[in-house]
This record gives sequence, C-alpha cells and structure tokens, in this order.
Amino acid sequence: MRKNIAILEGDGIGPEIMREAIKVLRAVETKYGHQFTLEYAPFGAGAYFSEGSPFPEKTKEVCDRADVIIKGPVGLAVEKMNDIPQEHRPEVGAILPLRKRYDTYANFRPVRLPKSLAGFSPLKAEIIGEGIDILMIRELVGGIYFGKKTEGPATDLEYAEDECVYTDEQVRRVAVIAFEEARKLGTRMMNIHKANVLATSRFWNVVVEDVARQYSDVPYQSVLVDNAAYQLVINPAMFNGVVLLENMMGDILTDQAGGVIGSLGLMPSACIGPDKSYVEPAHGSAPDIAGQNIANPYSMIGSVALMFDKCLASPVEAGEIWTALFAVFEKGYTTSELGGGYDADKVLSTSAFGDMVVKIIHGK
Ligand code: IPM
Ligand code: MN
Repeated sequence: MRKNIAILEGDGIGPEIMREAIKVLRAVETKYGHQFTLEYAPFGAGAYFSEGSPFPEKTKEVCDRADVIIKGPVGLAVEKMNDIPQEHRPEVGAILPLRKRYDTYANFRPVRLPKSLAGFSPLKAEIIGEGIDILMIRELVGGIYFGKKTEGPATDLEYAEDECVYTDEQVRRVAVIAFEEARKLGTRMMNIHKANVLATSRFWNVVVEDVARQYSDVPYQSVLVDNAAYQLVINPAMFNGVVLLENMMGDILTDQAGGVIGSLGLMPSACIGPDKSYVEPAHGSAPDIAGQNIANPYSMIGSVALMFDKCLASPVEAGEIWTALFAVFEKGYTTSELGGGYDADKVLSTSAFGDMVVKIIHGK
C-alpha cells in the first residue's frame, strides 16, 4: 500500500520515542513492500512557542491531507506550561481540537501483560495470575470533556460548571465498536458506568443494552466504575476481554491500568474516527527524562502496531510488531522504569530498544 502519514512528534520525550516508532514503521514498510510518505508538523507546547499555536493551521493542513496521523505526547514541565495562556495549552488547544476535528470517537487502549512478565507489575505475581489482556475502549469525543464550561469571574470565582452530555448516536456508535471487537476476539463485553448516580450513565446503559440485543452471542456484563477501580488492582484478570468506558472514566481507568501492568510506557492507543484516525501513546511527555535516551518507546511503537491494525486494516503487519515487542521482553530485556529486578546490562536505552525490535522484524 501507499500512504501519506502525518507525524506530530510532540514535546518532551516525543521526538526520541517517535524516532524509534518510525524505525519500526520503515522496517515493516521494507519487509512488506509498502510505501509510506511521512510529513512532519509541529504540534503541542513547542508549536505554541515556535508558531504561536499548539495546533497551527499548517499542521491542520498536513493532517487533513494525510491518510493517518501518528502523534507523540505533548506538554512541558509545569513551570513552562505556566507561560502558556490556558486556551493555548496543549490539552485544550491541541489534543481536544485534534480529536474533535476528526471526530475520533473510539479510543482503543490495549492493556497487556503476559504471565511471564508479571515482574513488571507492582502487584504480586499471583494477582497477575495467568496474565492480563484487556482491550479498553474509551469514548473520546463526548461527555464532560466536550460539554459547555462555565467559570465565575476570574477575580471572584463563585462557581464553575462542566456540562456532561451524551446523545444516543454518540453512545451507540462506540458501543457497536465494542461489541464488534468482543465478537471478533471471542470475549465478553464489560460496560463500566456510574448509573447509581449519574443521569448520563443511566442513559448510556439504556443505549448500550439496546445495542447488546443485537449481539446476543456476546456475553455482556455491567460494572459500577468505583467497584471497577477496586477490582482492577484486586483481580485485574477479571477484566480480560473488551471493556467499554465513557470519556472521563476511560481517562482515569486506563491510567490506572497502566499502573497495574507496571508503566504508562506500556500503554499505546488508537483514536478512530469515521474518516480519519490517529494513534498516540496514552501517557504524557515526561519532560523530566526528555533527551536522555532512557524513555520506553513501547507505547509509541505499539501505537504504530495499532495503526496497522485499526487504521490501515493490516493485522499481519500489526502482529509482526506486537510479536517483536514482546520478544524483546521475553529475551529478558527491559527499560529503566520497569520493575522486576533485571540485570543492569539488560536495561535498554530508547534507541537500543527500537533497534532490537527492527532486528527481530528482519529475522535477525
Ligand atoms: C489522555 C490524556 C488526555 C485526556 C489529556 C492530555 C487531555 O490524559 O489521552 O488520556 O485527558 O484525554
Ligand atoms: Mn489520560
């Protein structure tokens, strides 16, 4: 295939983990005879300082003409973020507008830790049990994130309000995606909500359960979000399979899931829209370790695997990347933030990790 890919390196560790992801992309391109044209564009806090906007017009044009977008993490250390006016900060000025522009409503966040790598987790090996393999699907363009925001006068802040709205269509389309995935994977579909308190959750459940009727072959389960947070550390394997969450709950529980498997560096993601999609790691830009060549590039490389699978309908190429990523760990290699008490000479730098993935893909 021939594809144009927009590359948004982002801030902090973004450029260095992106470099490794591109190495892997190029390895797959060569091996499978594809042709990818990459177009780099500024995005994030750095883009604000160099271009005056965290999501400049020219970056929008690059993204508009791309078939798919690979985005790195954005944001700077708190002191530097304070120099950026609120509306130009990368979260509200770049990430949310990117999601809205392409209506990327389904966010796939796989959470995977095989039994053999249980040592990465801060939890006891017996809690990891036979291993963790959860596909969290987070609704990404609705709910409280995109509702109307009202704040009282800045000098005398009397109140603030965040509206949380979900429409039938918004819930239905992501529920369909979740049931389709569960059917494909042969797992149950677990719906997470707060229907004992929130009207939006009660409505969410009505729609999800209506969709469930068309998937009577897929086992369905519904769990309250507070209980889910508890169970995620007590019995994470109970979540194995597909888990559907609304935007805010999905934000929180996917980070928690990253903690359960030992690192947010193990959390890739894909954000799927009706016409255009993008991929990104679920974590931030880790400015404290930027430029040291120690960041774990797994989440960025895994995001490229998700791009092949979810955006380019190329599961074979995706499988090749996943196999190589896990092979690195199975050989006993690790990265500096992961637990498990490995040999110091088996702790890989960012670039050595990428090189090893490429070697494995080339069968060396
Ligand atoms: C994520 C991030 C974003 C979110 C922020 C940076 C806006 O935390 O992708 O999980 O809250 O969605
Ligand atoms: Mn988050």
